[in-house]
Amino acid sequence: MENRPQWGTRTGFVLAAIGSAVGLGNIWRFPAVAYENGGGAFFLPYLFALLTAGIPLLVLEFTLGHKYKGSSPLTFARLNKKFEWLGWWQVAISFVISTYYPIIVAWALSYAWFSLNLSWGKDPGSFLMGEYLKVAPNPGEFIGLVPGVFFPLLLIWGITLGIMFKGVKKGIEAANKFMLPTLVILFLIIVVRALSLDGAAEGLNAFFKPDWKEIASPKVWIAAYGQIFFSLSVGFAIMVTYSSYLPKKTDLTNNAFITGFANSGFELLAGIGVFAALGFMAQQQGVPINEVVKSGIGLAFVVFPQIINEFPAFNQFFGFLFFACLFLAGLTSLISIVETFVAGVQDKFNVSRTKSVMIGGGVSALVSILYATRGGLYLLDAVDNFINSFGIVIAGLVEVVLVAWVAKKLTNLQDHANAISDMRLGGWWKISLSIITPLVLGYMTVQNFITNTKENYEGYPTSFLLYAGWGVAIAAVVAGFVFMSLRWGKDSLNVPDEKE
Ligand code: PHE
Ligand code: NA
Repeated sequence: MENRPQWGTRTGFVLAAIGSAVGLGNIWRFPAVAYENGGGAFFLPYLFALLTAGIPLLVLEFTLGHKYKGSSPLTFARLNKKFEWLGWWQVAISFVISTYYPIIVAWALSYAWFSLNLSWGKDPGSFLMGEYLKVAPNPGEFIGLVPGVFFPLLLIWGITLGIMFKGVKKGIEAANKFMLPTLVILFLIIVVRALSLDGAAEGLNAFFKPDWKEIASPKVWIAAYGQIFFSLSVGFAIMVTYSSYLPKKTDLTNNAFITGFANSGFELLAGIGVFAALGFMAQQQGVPINEVVKSGIGLAFVVFPQIINEFPAFNQFFGFLFFACLFLAGLTSLISIVETFVAGVQDKFNVSRTKSVMIGGGVSALVSILYATRGGLYLLDAVDNFINSFGIVIAGLVEVVLVAWVAKKLTNLQDHANAISDMRLGGWWKISLSIITPLVLGYMTVQNFITNTKENYEGYPTSFLLYAGWGVAIAAVVAGFVFMSLRWGKDSLNVPDEKE
């Protein structure tokens, strides 16, 4: 592929990488994870995980993408023909995520709209499940399209695919250059306002109070590594794909540090904002903070509307800002997920970008409609749990084992990165990737198997989990081998000017 697209500027690439990393996980996952795992003391294992796994993996994936100049399947196929399936497996995982991630972005869009007259009323919990999502009584029922989700979903796909059609520079880069700074500014306004609410100080105290005993527990360290892997979107095709569009000369290592620290900075900011707001709400309701701490959908779509209800002034405005932030954070991540398979299909079958966006985006958009039915919430919950536990984590593990131990490529990749980066990689990088990362990911995989075989996730029926959970996770691996068995378009596998 001679005319592979390129980022217009280094800042453009870094913004896109940060845009991918900064997502819902920063806003609704990190604050609760930190709070539940030692509060202020959590920062020690967290920083450790960032430096021994997060950033080393980012450097690895930036280097792979830059050196082999391909989507994940093409990159791994060029590394070693036998590794192509890993690239497709990662792409399949991204594809699965791309079917439900836009649903949450669609909810955020709806809620930005609802903010304008606080439509969720006095009881946002029953509004979400009842009036808005019309959740079916049992998992596995996909009847009843919910128009309130379906129409914003269409809009999200329209925006996303519109950006994808325009290509890497004019589409993805331009979108991130606008959306990421906007997100940061809007979010800062919310945080500053939250800090000045009554009770904010108590909230921050609860968040930062270190519980040093906690960090002796392995559970806390695993939580730290888990958050870092999840939050940086490493291990599944995204960063490899984005870095395949880098120009020849670029500081890979430095880019990785900037991306990693920016993502963590945003998490810290979110932790501060969320806990200041939670402190305010606990005070309004006269309950202790630990009773209002939530994460995920419950935090964003139930607790936040409650907080907005209690706001002293400009409720609508701050509600709108908050959901606009979720929308922007989600959209920039969604774009990066979709790019993995758009690029994969394009590389393998030698089709135009337009075709690839139409096919890949089209299929994903069609599947995503399943989640806009009354059974969508259960499906989303199950698929998300299983694709994270048995997709992302294991694919990341296989990636480091294949690169570090089977292909023994770390030294070679280190030379590649060092030749163009100011900061030199050394023993720290190799030990992190060949020993620490595989150990932690291996341990997490075993734990995930134990938890999910001991009892059914969320108590869902086995028949449901067989397809919505295990089935989806296995299908992603199978898809890897199926796509590997198809033939490459002419000349695709030759590495363009390998100069080392
Ligand atoms: N890493 C993002 C976050 O922290 C989420 C994400 C998931 C991004 C999947 C891309 C792909 O929320
Ligand atoms: Na993140």
